[in-house]
Amino acid sequence: MAKTIVGLDIGFSSIKVVALSHDSGKYKLVSLGSISAPRPGIISDADLDLEAVAVAIKKLLTAAKIDQREIITALPESKVFTRVIDDLPYLTDKELASAIRYAAEEFIPMSMADVNLNWQVLLRSDNKDKNTKTVVLVIASPKNVVNKYIKVLTMANLRPKALETEIIAVTRSLVGNNPFSPSTLIIQLGGTTTDYAAVSRGLIWLTRSISTGGMALTRALAQHFNFELSQAEEYKRVYGLVEDQLEGKVFDALHPIVDIIAQESKRIIQAFQTKYPQNSIKRVVLSGGGAKMPGLVIYLANALGLEVQEADPWYQIIKEKSLASRLAQDASSYSAAVGLALRED
Ligand SMILES: Nc1ncnc2c1ncn2[C@@H]1O[C@H](COP(=O)(O)OP(=O)(O)OP(=O)(O)O)[C@@H](O)[C@H]1O
Ligand SMILES: [Mg+2]
Repeated sequence: MAKTIVGLDIGFSSIKVVALSHDSGKYKLVSLGSISAPRPGIISDADLDLEAVAVAIKKLLTAAKIDQREIITALPESKVFTRVIDDLPYLTDKELASAIRYAAEEFIPMSMADVNLNWQVLLRSDNKDKNTKTVVLVIASPKNVVNKYIKVLTMANLRPKALETEIIAVTRSLVGNNPFSPSTLIIQLGGTTTDYAAVSRGLIWLTRSISTGGMALTRALAQHFNFELSQAEEYKRVYGLVEDQLEGKVFDALHPIVDIIAQESKRIIQAFQTKYPQNSIKRVVLSGGGAKMPGLVIYLANALGLEVQEADPWYQIIKEKSLASRLAQDASSYSAAVGLALRED
């Protein structure tokens, strides 16, 4: 029996929703939509601002004709602590739980009482021999952040079936759990942050979030030309990093910010190479609203010396032909929402 799963991505720039029907391993697009996020939006702690986010979510779901009340949503990468712990020996489930708790205290700058701890075993030897190993991806979500998202959803008359992190959802839609896909660096260029995941054999081995995103690019242009933000936004979308436009002036203003994003990519690729020398990153997938900036794919390919592709979260989804061009247009913005809707129970 087909059932419909709804993924809701509450971004700082825009809110996106995707509904997919699941039927024996096949996924079909039921509905999608996006709406501008109110300001200051979900970043605020004031009830009035959160209420505005809830109103926007309700509007979006109505426009997309989605009446399910149970949805899956994501916490922003910048608000959760994610770490791969790879220095553990073989452990039973019970031993593992306490070892993770112990290890987590080192990388979480908060009291353990204030976070929800989740983990996924990436690798585990099957016995207690010498040289055995357990590798786990640990995610610690501050309870106050979780509670805020639940509050907004409740205001919008929704119930979260599951809460993930943005990069986990993005990884699901872009790489899936295909153990044969080449090791990949996902760069998710959102409005406020750029999030990264190094993915190998369908699993996440390294994540990172930096506070340089699409808004930083717009601000740099606004400053350089003394523009209003709205005009800078337009120039960014039209000219981007194409060097031979407007005598290279837009390029000059944007590339120092893009270089921050590229530098961090290099660091991650190197760190991954050092840790897993037999398994280096072979390609980069560029996702998020910022992936559409003209010239960015080529600029990053040159900077990193790797193949760079623009994200297509729709590749494994069955959809009507008439929708194809509309979906292709801002495909990279929907990576997180599609990934959330792809989640199995
Ligand atoms: N064609 C384009 N060229 C360049 N940038 C673009 C284009 N379209 C959208 N963007 C940028 O993408 C960003 C929004 O991306 P996205 O929708 O992934 O963010 P978000 O999920 O709302 O934000 P966050 O993940 O930080 O909460 C904005 O900064 C916007 O300027
Ligand atoms: Mg986002």
